[in-house]
Amino acid sequence: MTRNFIIISNTVDTSKPLSINSLTSYGRLDVLCRCISTAFFLSNGFRKDVLLYIYFTLDKSILQIDGSTVRGINPDERAIAGILKRVFQGLPFLGIRFYTGNLEELLVNYKPVMLDIHGEGNPRNITTSQSFLIGDHLGYPIEHTNLFSKLKKISLGANEYLSSQTITVLNYILDQD
Ligand SMILES: C[S@@+](CC[C@H](N)C(=O)[O-])C[C@H]1O[C@@H](n2cnc3c(N)ncnc32)[C@H](O)[C@@H]1O
Repeated sequence: MTRNFIIISNTVDTSKPLSINSLTSYGRLDVLCRCISTAFFLSNGFRKDVLLYIYFTLDKSILQIDGSTVRGINPDERAIAGILKRVFQGLPFLGIRFYTGNLEELLVNYKPVMLDIHGEGNPRNITTSQSFLIGDHLGYPIEHTNLFSKLKKISLGANEYLSSQTITVLNYILDQD
C-alpha cells in the first residue's frame, strides 16, 4: 500500500528565483528538501511506496513526487533543491509533477490524518491505510483552519519534532505495520 504524505509549505514562493547555495533565503526550502529526503530514503534503499505532496500556500501550487516512478534523485538536500529548481521552472522530471492546485481537493481525495502535537496520542492507530498531513516549521496556516478542522488529529507525543523527523517517526511506525 502507498504511503501518502502531504506537507504544507508556508514560506516558499515557487515563482521566485531559487539559489541552491542559499536554501533558506528562498523561504524555508531546506525544510522541504529534508522532508523529501527522509520520506524516500533509507540508508541503503529507496521507498518506492511513498507518494509525497507539497502544497505551497503562497502560490497555490502542488508538487507531487511518486516513489514508484521517480528516477535520478538522491538524499542530499542541495541535489534535491537542484531538481526542485528545474521543476519550478517548468522543466520535466520523471516521477515529479508540479501544477497549480487546490488544497481542499487534495484533502478531499486523500482524507489525511493531521499530525498535530495536541492530537490524539496513540501511535497504534497509525496505519498504512491512512494519508498524513504535516506542517512545516510554522505549522499550519490559519487561513485554512476551516479545512483542517474536519480532519482527525494525531499526536506523536509531547516532544515537538521537525517536519522531517515527524516523517521519519511515521515511516518507522508504518514499517512495523
Ligand atoms: C516543527 S513542527 C511545527 C511547529 C510550529 N511552531 C507549530 O506551532 O506547529 C512541524 C510539524 O511537525 C509535526 N509534528 C511535530 N511534532 C509533532 C508531534 N509531537 N505530534 C504530531 N505531529 C508533530 C506537525 O505536523 C507540525 O506542524
